[in-house]
Amino acid sequence: MRTISSPAEMRAWARTEHASGRTIGLVPTMGALHGGHMALIADAARRCERVVVSIFVNPLQFNRPSDLDSYPRPIDDDVAACARAGVDIVFAPTSAEMYPTGFQTRVVPGPLGDVMEGPGRPGHFEGVMTVVAKLLGATNADVAIFGQKDYQQLRIVTQMAADLDLDAEIVGHPIVRDADGLALSSRNVRLSASDRNAAGCIPRALVAAAETALTTSDPAVVVASARVVLDAEPAAATEYVTVFDAETLGPVDRLDAVDRAPGRVRIGAAVWFGDVRLIDNRDLFDRELFDGDLAEGPARGPDR
Ligand code: PAJ
Repeated sequence: MRTISSPAEMRAWARTEHASGRTIGLVPTMGALHGGHMALIADAARRCERVVVSIFVNPLQFNRPSDLDSYPRPIDDDVAACARAGVDIVFAPTSAEMYPTGFQTRVVPGPLGDVMEGPGRPGHFEGVMTVVAKLLGATNADVAIFGQKDYQQLRIVTQMAADLDLDAEIVGHPIVRDADGLALSSRNVRLSASDRNAAGCIPRALVAAAETALTTSDPAVVVASARVVLDAEPAAATEYVTVFDAETLGPVDRLDAVDRAPGRVRIGAAVWFGDVRLIDNRDLFDRELFDGDLAEGPARGPDR
């Protein structure tokens, strides 16, 4: 495994691989790798002959400076985890390499960026789209894997790739969860032990909502049932809970028969524990208790 930090060197490597007829799978990350990231890496390894993992804490997408400063950066552990997983290249550029003096272009999302995470995090998706466009450019990836954990991000990236005629196929991977259902996240390590315990209310709330959805066609009733679970947890401060269309990300007025198939309607939430903000979502009509795999413990080698 090699670590590359220069975008030009990254492009040169990708050119050579493509010239030799090999496909490239990219897993973009901000590091602090956990079982969710490792599942995406294994997925990329199944789909492509070469796997690139990018590790870059992208300053452009942080709207709170304290969040950027406190973001964990265990780069040595991350590189070791990638090596164990059979990754070919860790692409870990510096901010100066990604955004040199004179850098000025931005990729702006359309209306998909105006809902859920959008209003509370101004500039966030513009920062994400800009860096993802650059990562796809530098790695020349044939396939790029994103987690459904950040469902809005996945949807916006998919839209960008279609709108800008990008070559990469964008793949969404199911959410990987801890034993109590909490979605794995780099931010979970910042939770106190008691908040970590309390955070199990998020997946429980989403499951309660999915159960309620079986007996009502009113999304407000579904949201209320999730809020009952969240409000019962004193450590949790709920920012939003919303039932949304999986394609448009817009609000859903009624849960009609056509909406009750898997893949049509999701429920998402953002919840604070102290100064840590967690997000989660799930398919409202998925028959599984949780819509992802449970975490499998330490990363294992890729299946190839
Ligand atoms: P990061 O939060 O590091 O996440 C990298 C990828 O891992 C994202 O596609 C995210 O959805 C996925 N992921 C995180 N937790 C997951 C889980 N529990 N199950 C499945 N997938 C999970 O998302 C970003 O970084 C950045 O915005 C990035 C796309 C790298 C651009 O800077």
